[in-house]
Amino acid sequence: MLCRFELGQATSRETIVIMPQTVTFNNRDLDLKHLWHGNLQHRGLESRPPLEVTSGDGCYVVDSEGRRYLDGMAGLFCVNVGYGRREIVDAVAAQMSQLAYYPLTQSHGPGAQLAGRLAELLPPGLDRVFFTNSGSEAVETALKMARQCARQMHPGENRYKIVARHRGYHGFTMGAL
Ligand SMILES: Cc1ncc(COP(=O)(O)O)c(C=O)c1O
Repeated sequence: MLCRFELGQATSRETIVIMPQTVTFNNRDLDLKHLWHGNLQHRGLESRPPLEVTSGDGCYVVDSEGRRYLDGMAGLFCVNVGYGRREIVDAVAAQMSQLAYYPLTQSHGPGAQLAGRLAELLPPGLDRVFFTNSGSEAVETALKMARQCARQMHPGENRYKIVARHRGYHGFTMGAL
């Protein structure tokens, strides 16, 4: 429930009256008014709104009507370890309490430790990790690295072309799209 305040018109003799007026928005109204769904065709959303997902447990999610679904896509591959894993919730809460974020312009233990663990798991030669916030950003970074690599391997040339498959999908950003 949100509250809106209406301003009255002021004339030279009147006082401005501020009246609280209660307006109720539900999540569906807010969604239709303000959310841009990145991978949905918006036409028709009013008559066929997307599911409002409210909770998740293991490989299932529950919508606002209480219906349970098997999330075969694992939250678009972002939740491939499953929903509601207590040990992850606790570890995230502990880290958030201690240090929620610091950019890697400096360093911190969790970043260095995760990079080290990934380097152990990766094949030999892949021993340096650059953290990004999304697959799209990872692809953008790979494109920049490829260009830089070409510059260093072929000085004086400007090799910038990227070969991609027609309608291949690698993310939302301009280079990855
Ligand atoms: C092959 C591939 N590359 C990149 C991406 C982009 O990842 P993100 O949605 O995390 O930006 C996706 C996402 O579905 C993908 O399937």
